Amino acid sequence: MINVALPKGRLGEKTYSLMAAAGYDCPSILEKNRKLTFENPEKGVRYFWVKPSDVSIYVERGAADVGVCGKDILLEYAPDIYELLDLGIGKCRMCVAGFSDFYDEEERTLRVATKFPRIAAGYYESIGRDIDIIHLNGSIEIAPILGLSDVIVDIVETGNTLRENNLSVLKEIVPISARFICNKVSYQFKHPEILKLRDGLADVIGSDQQVETIRLEH
Ligand code: PRP
Repeated sequence: MINVALPKGRLGEKTYSLMAAAGYDCPSILEKNRKLTFENPEKGVRYFWVKPSDVSIYVERGAADVGVCGKDILLEYAPDIYELLDLGIGKCRMCVAGFSDFYDEEERTLRVATKFPRIAAGYYESIGRDIDIIHLNGSIEIAPILGLSDVIVDIVETGNTLRENNLSVLKEIVPISARFICNKVSYQFKHPEILKLRDGLADVIGSDQQVETIRLEH
């Protein structure tokens, strides 16, 4: 049995849809209830829903053999896992954003608000800029508006949140997408099953097949 950690929300639905298209469907996941685990013994697969930012913790510690999470989480937390496939879904960009007329005075320490302190620190270190990181947990866009920070480092998907708050992308740091990840021990001990799953997903992604997102209660 392969244990799969699915991120709750739209990304999890898209992921399950790809898995089902690859032959790993699990009819009980379609039932309307509050259950968090679902299995299909015939296909040798068990799914469970977890918070998106927790997927890599389950996989790293072996509670899940495989899972799907954003590249942002992998860059920020650097979990000790294998990244097996870029699923090409959940695409967005990690960006520096702020007021479009923001002028960076080099002699001042730049105040950067973010949910991603490691990514932000790594980026500014790479360009040799001293920063003061303000670690927030959400609604990052409000920080420059209230003068808490000069800029933010955050995820931009549609750009609507920035636009509606009169902010702009000042610099794109790295493109983000969802990755299929694997526990290192599972990769060794369940090698054929995991490779079959990865190859099945790669075939679905690589083909021109339109995979309809299955709406799920979770
Ligand atoms: C994320 C991110 C931005 C927003 C970007 O926030 O932190 O705020 O989505 O998406 P957009 O470009 O499509 O507007 P999330 O919804 O995770 O909420 P948060 O503010 O609690 O972090």
